[in-house]
Amino acid sequence: MELIRIPRIMQDTAGGHFLHGRSIGLVPTMGALHEGHLSLVRRSKGENDITAVSIFVNPLQFAPSEDLNKYPRDIDGDTEKLRRENVDILFMPDAHLIYPEGFSTHVEAEGISEKLCGAFRPGHFRGVATIVAKLFNIVKPARAYFGQKDFQQAVIIKKMAKDLDMAIDVVICPTIRENDGLAMSSRNLYLNKDERKAATVINKCLTQTTELIKSGIIDIESIRRFMKEKLSEEPLITEIQYASIYSPQTLDELEKAGKGALLAIALKIGKTRLIDNMIVNP
Ligand code: PAF
Repeated sequence: MELIRIPRIMQDTAGGHFLHGRSIGLVPTMGALHEGHLSLVRRSKGENDITAVSIFVNPLQFAPSEDLNKYPRDIDGDTEKLRRENVDILFMPDAHLIYPEGFSTHVEAEGISEKLCGAFRPGHFRGVATIVAKLFNIVKPARAYFGQKDFQQAVIIKKMAKDLDMAIDVVICPTIRENDGLAMSSRNLYLNKDERKAATVINKCLTQTTELIKSGIIDIESIRRFMKEKLSEEPLITEIQYASIYSPQTLDELEKAGKGALLAIALKIGKTRLIDNMIVNP
């Protein structure tokens, strides 16, 4: 596995592969890699000649009050995991090379970035879109892989690629779950034992709401009430930010749940913010 730390060298390397007709698959990450990330790596390995993984904890997508400084970091463990998956390139740039002094250009998908998580994390998706656009320009992938767990992020990146004519296939891969249903996330590491157990309520709520919808209860009021009641059973939840049914395209709340509708939840357990979602009858 080739370790590249300098954007210009990554660009030249990508250019070389392009000239030889080799496709690159990119898996952008912030490290603390888990099976969810590795599932993206495996998908990329199956679909591209070269697989590149980026690890960069992007300061631009964290608000000053958020967890940038305590975000989990495990460079040795991550490198070992990627080596075992036979990843071709690990791109791990320093922040000052990504955002040199004077950096002032940003990418923002307006409207959609303010909904759901965007309402609680102002500026977050602007930071995500900006770093992903930069990574696309540096790594020049044919395809880039993102998890469905971060549904809004995936929708925004797809929209950015379309709106800005980036010739990149944005591939959304299924959420990988622990045995008890909790969606894998680097932030699960923040949870203590009791909180970790409490977090299973999220998947249970999504699954049971899907069943409710399948049984014919599809109006927004009933769905919202059911989700709230289910989540309220867990005393370690300190805040429910949203829990409802949305259009997977616009992310607006739906009046009635139908096939393909997005069930999504964001909440805090203790101080840890967790998100998850499910598509009804995909
Ligand atoms: O999903 C993530 O880990 C990050 O938001 C991403 C896409 C790597 C951008 O920093």
